[in-house]
Amino acid sequence: MTVSAATRKKSDSLRDQIRHHNYRYHALDDPEIPDAEYDRLMRDLQDLESEYPELVSPDSPTQRVGDTPISAFGTVQHELPMLSLGNAFTEAELHDFHRRVLDRLDLSADADMVYAAEPKLDGAAVSLLYENGLLVRGATRGDGTTGEDITHNVRTIESIPLRLLGAGYPRRLEVRGEVFMPKAGFDAYNKKARKAGEKTFVNPRNAAAGSLRQLDPKLTARRPLDMFAYSVGIAEGGKSLPDRHSEIIDQLQEWGVKVCPERRVVRGVSGCLDFYASLGERRDGLAYEIDGVVYKVDSLAMQNELGFVSRAPRWAIAHKFPAQEELTEVEAIEFQVGRTGAVTPVARLKPVFVGGVTVSNATLHNIDELHRKDVRVGDTVIVRRAGDVIPEVVRVIPQRRPKGARRVELPGECPVCGSHVERGEGETVARCTGGLFCAAQRAEALKHFVSRRALDVEGLGAKLIEQLVTTARLKTPADIFRLRREDLEELERMGEKSADNLIRSIEASKATTLARFLFALGIREVGEATAGGLAAHYGRLEKLVTASEDELQGIQDIGPVVAARIRAFFDEEHNLNVIARLREYGVEWPEFDPTGTKKDGKLSGKTFVLTGTLPNLTRDQAKDLIQAAGGKVTGSVSKKTDYLVAGAKAGSKLANAEKFDVAVLNEGDLRSLVEK
Ligand code: IVH
Repeated sequence: MTVSAATRKKSDSLRDQIRHHNYRYHALDDPEIPDAEYDRLMRDLQDLESEYPELVSPDSPTQRVGDTPISAFGTVQHELPMLSLGNAFTEAELHDFHRRVLDRLDLSADADMVYAAEPKLDGAAVSLLYENGLLVRGATRGDGTTGEDITHNVRTIESIPLRLLGAGYPRRLEVRGEVFMPKAGFDAYNKKARKAGEKTFVNPRNAAAGSLRQLDPKLTARRPLDMFAYSVGIAEGGKSLPDRHSEIIDQLQEWGVKVCPERRVVRGVSGCLDFYASLGERRDGLAYEIDGVVYKVDSLAMQNELGFVSRAPRWAIAHKFPAQEELTEVEAIEFQVGRTGAVTPVARLKPVFVGGVTVSNATLHNIDELHRKDVRVGDTVIVRRAGDVIPEVVRVIPQRRPKGARRVELPGECPVCGSHVERGEGETVARCTGGLFCAAQRAEALKHFVSRRALDVEGLGAKLIEQLVTTARLKTPADIFRLRREDLEELERMGEKSADNLIRSIEASKATTLARFLFALGIREVGEATAGGLAAHYGRLEKLVTASEDELQGIQDIGPVVAARIRAFFDEEHNLNVIARLREYGVEWPEFDPTGTKKDGKLSGKTFVLTGTLPNLTRDQAKDLIQAAGGKVTGSVSKKTDYLVAGAKAGSKLANAEKFDVAVLNEGDLRSLVEK
């Protein structure tokens, strides 16, 4: 079948559009169209090409993944050697480098030296040869002189153009850069591999290098690889390239090659250090791994003058970040109880300097992770500390496992309080069931207990609670109501007056509502709304304490998980003890008997408005009280309002109530209305 001119034109146009969108998406990271639209263009081209196979050309965007695996890698002789970089680990070493550059160039110590600063990418170096704008060969660095031919694989990387865009590129152009696996792709790949019981990658660098060395391009195509170009090798024929490194990189980008956006032209050592510090801070937030910064003398004329020493250029240096991974030994594996009761295995390590600090503990996340990694006491492991992230054990070096290295199991009892350790079905996290009883969970539980929407103890902040917990003055919430002025005065930064105030607000917090009280208990999964629902449904604590899971599940919005948590909480003897003591010390709330559902609560169908300051109840408490009895609270007085509850300093609402002939209640009236 002959291809009409119109069809050929259509396929050319589709290819141009796809190349343009590839460029926007990959090189510029700024797509113009949604993915679905791109997919449609691609499908149209595929359809056209399968109908007219003579339209297919090797640089067509449909031709990335070849059909047939190769049987062995061919070799590639690099016409210009692929060099490595010298390293600087300290500022002093960077100063030395700078001084050597200036000396060689015969410049004075205060000369204005311009460097191109860019991230040192952690992947695998590749050489991409373009002839007349077409990608004809991809190669690994190999030993710098001889690499492997990986054309079939680099073609599968979508950010590598099969054809350069625009015009003016050299007839032969060798683009050099780093192929890498972005962090997200690496994590996702490993997660999938782990699920399928397949081999995982140790780090993104190995992932990139390993993926490039596949005989079957279909395998490479499935790996989430990306590339940034960082230099040019051969450049022959056509216009000459710019005479500054930074401008060459900009030019590559215009030709559709992806380059790293984190590049900067800086001056002198101080400029280099600023860049190093700023990139170091942002390192963890980057989408890809970097292990340092590369500074390159920006002027190509100067680069030529400086030349090379052994296999590294004199005009560039890699300023490394502190290593994020190191080897050390596991001295013990212990279980830590977090503030929420999560029981987490922690490796106690022989101290090691990693990520810029000395690390002697590393998290093992959870018991499944511990067993999956098969970490045992005595093992030599790789620890990783990335930025401010908690150090973790990455993996064991099995070859270094000593005889009798001990496996560790999840303890049945909490190492802090001895309560039962529980792990819900399908859950990875094991938890101590000790709740308020467990010292590890105390501070957090207490902070919640006194918080504004719970018992609302004004002036009892996080810092104070920490102090009171560490000095053992506070063990359970009930202890709050036993605090004496003397206990408080002994604390840091606590004067007589603030101690007095605190005692007063503790006293005031005793008058609460059942909803607040339930919320304050910090029962897992019982938030404010659930607590409110429970209070309205039961009216009295005793009824709730004895409710079965089945019964609880009958309440609106309470499912099996929440019902089980509530039951488990009230099944713990020490939780009941704490509650009993709280009531003994005077914590109280209005109880009522909701006859049936909320629909026929005592205040059902009645609309209330609150105004002014009530003597004992806060606005929230009064609201809870009304709602618990089935009443409704609204913001402004109207004809439809049944009652205005007014306290001191009532304002315009009181006037409105008179206008609309609405009954006005005080706090006492409200209480008797609810309780009668
Ligand atoms: S320039 C002549 N720039 O580091 C300079 N290399 O140790 C050699 N690398 O094999 C390359 N990021 O794979 C340069 N921004 C960057 C780089 C970079 C990573 C790798 C590259 C090379 C190795 C040299």
